[in-house]
Amino acid sequence: MLLPLPPLLLLLLGPLCLLSQAEDTVELVFSTERPQHRVSPAFLSFTIDANLATEPRFLTFLGSPKLRTLARGLSPAYLRFGGTKTDFLIFDPHKEPTFEERRYWQSQVNQDVCQFGPIPSDVEERLQFEWPSQEQLLLTEQYQKKFKNITYSKSSVDMLYDFANCSGLNLIFGLNALLRTADLQWNSSNAQLLLDYCSSKSYNISWELGNEPNSFRKKAGIFIDGLQLGKDFIELHKLLGKSTFKNAKLYGPDVGQPRGKTVNMLSSFLKVGGAVIDSVTWHHYYVNGRIATKEDFLNPDVLDTFISSVQKVLQVVEETRPGKNIWLGETSSAYGGGAPLLSNTFAAGFMWLDKLGVSARMGMDVVMRQVLFGAGNYHLVDRNFEPLPDYWLSLLYKKLVGSTVFTARVKGPDRSKLRVYLHCTNVKHPRYKEGDLTLYALNLHNVTKRLQLPSHFFNKQVDKYLLKPAGSGGLLSKSIQLNGQTLKMVDDQTFPTLIEKPLRPGSSLGLPPFSYGFFVIRNAKVAACI
Ligand SMILES: *[C@@H]1O[C@H](CO)[C@@H](O)[C@H](O)[C@H]1NC(C)=O
Ligand SMILES: *[C@@H]1O[C@H](CO)[C@@H](O)[C@H](O)[C@H]1NC(C)=O
Ligand SMILES: *[C@@H]1O[C@H](CO)[C@@H](O)[C@H](O)[C@H]1NC(C)=O
Ligand SMILES: *[C@@H]1O[C@H](CO)[C@@H](O)[C@H](O)[C@H]1NC(C)=O
Repeated sequence: MLLPLPPLLLLLLGPLCLLSQAEDTVELVFSTERPQHRVSPAFLSFTIDANLATEPRFLTFLGSPKLRTLARGLSPAYLRFGGTKTDFLIFDPHKEPTFEERRYWQSQVNQDVCQFGPIPSDVEERLQFEWPSQEQLLLTEQYQKKFKNITYSKSSVDMLYDFANCSGLNLIFGLNALLRTADLQWNSSNAQLLLDYCSSKSYNISWELGNEPNSFRKKAGIFIDGLQLGKDFIELHKLLGKSTFKNAKLYGPDVGQPRGKTVNMLSSFLKVGGAVIDSVTWHHYYVNGRIATKEDFLNPDVLDTFISSVQKVLQVVEETRPGKNIWLGETSSAYGGGAPLLSNTFAAGFMWLDKLGVSARMGMDVVMRQVLFGAGNYHLVDRNFEPLPDYWLSLLYKKLVGSTVFTARVKGPDRSKLRVYLHCTNVKHPRYKEGDLTLYALNLHNVTKRLQLPSHFFNKQVDKYLLKPAGSGGLLSKSIQLNGQTLKMVDDQTFPTLIEKPLRPGSSLGLPPFSYGFFVIRNAKVAACI
């Protein structure tokens, strides 16, 4: 027989139970009257590091039909080809294609370049076999900051352009800014050769000049200041104006983190050359890949460091070129190729999703993730062309998150471990319509948190897309599950269906410890989204 609890005990326990439940339930506050920003439809974009061309035959990887399918999944997007090697690559129009490139082109019998077939299997096997040692070499080179000049052929340009074009991506090509005359002016003659070739092929390309010019001294023993770089961009702009690229876009200066002298460089560059660029580009990494820990990846204070970097860049642009678009031109979790066993796991998603959220809310127009594919650990797709957790996270982001950005926050004092972002829904998704909202959230608490929608949206239908690690690796897993289902490609051409979990209207939005996800609020009828 159950005895009723003595009234005194009830009195003591009741509020305690309520308290612990209340603590894990948080109310959301939305500001949906006026959009905070509208970002580019290509907001989530990505890069291929120019170091893939260190041995140009490895560019043949870009012929992979599976890699192209995965890239196409993320379009519309920009594909930036850049990185440290940008300033060590020299175009040689007379250079012959490599053996691997030639075998690839010979195997492509179809007239329509985008009706491509697979990489010949012997070529693919050979490149796969040689890639680990090449990767090692690239990382060592980067660590020692010793770079050799490399020449690339027309075939390499074709490989890169076909990859971008056939995957629905807009190619941005970084030109070598370290080719200099005796008096340290930019020597444009090699860029001219490349422009001539790309014109002859009617390629549609946007341009950059140089990568992280703030560290040219470290990388090449040459110091170029912002003023000189500004003049160099004006020179490039003139060159483009005289070619079929007169309407092509130009982005720069691709400076590193806004610290110390880099801020001065950005500022003086913008004063001189700001008028000829279409967007200001800068780079950001949270941590050093060689020493980063799992704790860093889950630390809200580390995530917040990005906010102050954005503020610094916003301030410089506001002072020099107010109103200019700002892009994160290259970015990832950890520099130096990423952090081994971290940057390619579920844990990396916290940095990635939070960076997307903060960037959109603070008005970065485009964010280019380093890298889609290539050396190191921060890739979205691994060397066997298998998508990693950040790929799937990016894919869901593309499908669900629209360009109109609002502010959202959780009520209460401690917001740092429960981070929420709010946009209009991407209405290209067949299930959703104008007026719908997409909330995305990450929970860095070690307990489940329940999000409560503002009263106005309380009874709306909500689709949940919850991401958790799959398999046995925990947060360090390289696979991911969506609403309990492990995500993997059906075959080289076919994506799995990304299945939502509709919640009962009025229920709270549960977010387990160390998880992230998206919530689409249907029929939200938000006027600013219509
Ligand atoms: C790819 O090239 C074709 C033909 O030149 C062009 O119509 C199409 O717009 C290009 N796609 C992109 C994404 O640039
Ligand atoms: C620019 O570079 C080209 C190719 O290396 C060279 O022939 C030319 O003399 C250089 N021009 C100047 C002004 O240094
Ligand atoms: C060329 O690429 C830009 C994006 O970089 C795009 O806006 C434009 O429509 C493209 N032009 C053509 C003719 O495809
Ligand atoms: C959860 O985190 C709190 C601090 O936020 C800590 O005191 C507690 O020990 C953690 N619990 C577990 C199970 O890790």
